[in-house]
Amino acid sequence: MTRYLITGGAGYIGSSVADRLLQDANNEVIAFDNFSTGRREFIEDALKKPNYKLIEGDLLDTAAIDKAMEGIDFVFHFAANADIRRGCEHPRKDLEQNTIATFNVLDAMRRNKAREIVFSSTGPIYGEAQIIPTPEDAPLPIQTSLYGASKLACEGLIEAFCEGFGFTSYIFRFVSILGERYQHGHVYDFYKQLMETPERLYILGNGKQRKSYLYIQDCIDAIFTAVEHKENKVNIYNLGTPEYCEVTDSATWISEEMGLNPKFEFSGGDRGWVGDNPFIFLDTKKIQSLGWKPKLTIKEAVVQTVKYLKENEWLLEDRK
Ligand SMILES: NC(=O)c1ccc[n+]([C@@H]2O[C@H](COP(=O)([O-])OP(=O)(O)OC[C@H]3O[C@@H](n4cnc5c(N)ncnc54)[C@H](O)[C@@H]3O)[C@@H](O)[C@H]2O)c1
Repeated sequence: MTRYLITGGAGYIGSSVADRLLQDANNEVIAFDNFSTGRREFIEDALKKPNYKLIEGDLLDTAAIDKAMEGIDFVFHFAANADIRRGCEHPRKDLEQNTIATFNVLDAMRRNKAREIVFSSTGPIYGEAQIIPTPEDAPLPIQTSLYGASKLACEGLIEAFCEGFGFTSYIFRFVSILGERYQHGHVYDFYKQLMETPERLYILGNGKQRKSYLYIQDCIDAIFTAVEHKENKVNIYNLGTPEYCEVTDSATWISEEMGLNPKFEFSGGDRGWVGDNPFIFLDTKKIQSLGWKPKLTIKEAVVQTVKYLKENEWLLEDRK
């Protein structure tokens, strides 16, 4: 039996990974979450399983994470402030929720002798990359968002713990993830807007930003593929589809799936917010060389996400 701890286990990606792990009755899954953005609805099924346990706690509480780490073999560290857009509104948040929280996880692992960690990093650590598609060994860029900078600091800490304390890490630099349980990002924002004003859609930037998105189940397949092929102490992979689209393409697919034909209005400029990269396209040859490839195209993933939101409009309500 392997004992897994998932930080952010009630979030979008964390709860989806928990469900995948629970398909094997030999896995024991412990979800750790402070419910800042996590949803109880995402873990309803998991809670019914005998090999699943929820711990409500905050990663800034070192005693709580230390206790949760007892007897853990393998950590999936997904808890974070995943809101890149509002970084400049609360500059400490990314430092605390991403970098310090990650240090607390690593140090609790060290004390409790847990030695393997999966970490969700992000495409924005490449800043405005000069090499596109951007490979994992692209030159260390100038950081353009507090979110990306905090995640890059997390990567550095993880690598140092691998060297210093014999950990093995799997660091994934994701593009934006789409699909079931999706609860933040452009599809969510556009869907919500179109429910309120079906005749028009306001798009940040000029709509020509080029983006690559990945379906959640493809993302999880990729994570497990990499873990199965453990190669080094530090294993870094880009995750994404081998294609990109423009934001207006996605807006068109979303509108069509909702049966609407809105007028698009643009805020203007080549980016939506500070730190928005007008062209993000990661080179995913490394993970593909292990035999993984995405099952859904970007368009299929966008459509799947809209279908999910249609069936789960409770997600659009403001949090209580
Ligand atoms: N969703 C994406 O498109 C995407 C893309 C790139 C990277 N990521 C990264 O993947 C990870 C998961 O993202 P997500 O989309 O599932 O986000 P999410 O907001 O749905 O999940 C994050 C979870 O962490 C919990 N959490 C946050 N701070 C915590 C703390 N201090 N203590 C305990 N729990 C805490 C939240 O309650 C939530 O359940 C994040 O690290 C994010 O940065 C996500």
